[in-house]
Amino acid sequence: MSAKNNISLIGFMGTGKTSVGRLLSQKLKRESIDTDEMIEKETAMTIGEIFEQEGEAHFRKIEGELVKRLSGETNRIILCGGGVVLNKENIQNLRNGGKTVLLEAEPEEIYRRIQKDQTRPLLKGKMNLKTIKEILEQRQEAYLASGDIVVKTTNKTLEEVSDEIIKKLNKEC
Ligand code: S3P
Repeated sequence: MSAKNNISLIGFMGTGKTSVGRLLSQKLKRESIDTDEMIEKETAMTIGEIFEQEGEAHFRKIEGELVKRLSGETNRIILCGGGVVLNKENIQNLRNGGKTVLLEAEPEEIYRRIQKDQTRPLLKGKMNLKTIKEILEQRQEAYLASGDIVVKTTNKTLEEVSDEIIKKLNKEC
């Protein structure tokens, strides 16, 4: 096992990383850090503004640098943006810092959860099931290769998902 014990939540938009992460943070009495929130704080821009004004590649660069920095810390719960898996180096860094937990959800459930949210630049003007399925499909392989443990979240409560994560992590150690 890695000497560091971070828990990094990864998965597509709307799979529950932020809400599950907050509960996990309470249950395990550990600080959770949301990479998107931290990027917004450090750049004083929203994720939407960064995509629009600086481009996606620039966002990915900032995201990668932050992931590397946080992976070097310990005892953290790191809540990653859905695209963190697009760069294998990010996953390597997260794994060097502890375990990765892949959250999964059915596309219909993802759509139901995020349809009213206008903050996600990749779905701006195309918030629909078809686009969600397309992006999921493009990323499927990367997601599957990136999770040390995998937890399905469709039709489960936050409580159930976080307990399942804790149980699976305990088994892994
Ligand atoms: C992205 C997911 C978002 C955010 C950005 C890009 C992606 O995070 O990082 O909009 O590429 O899937 P959430 O997964 O928290 O929505």
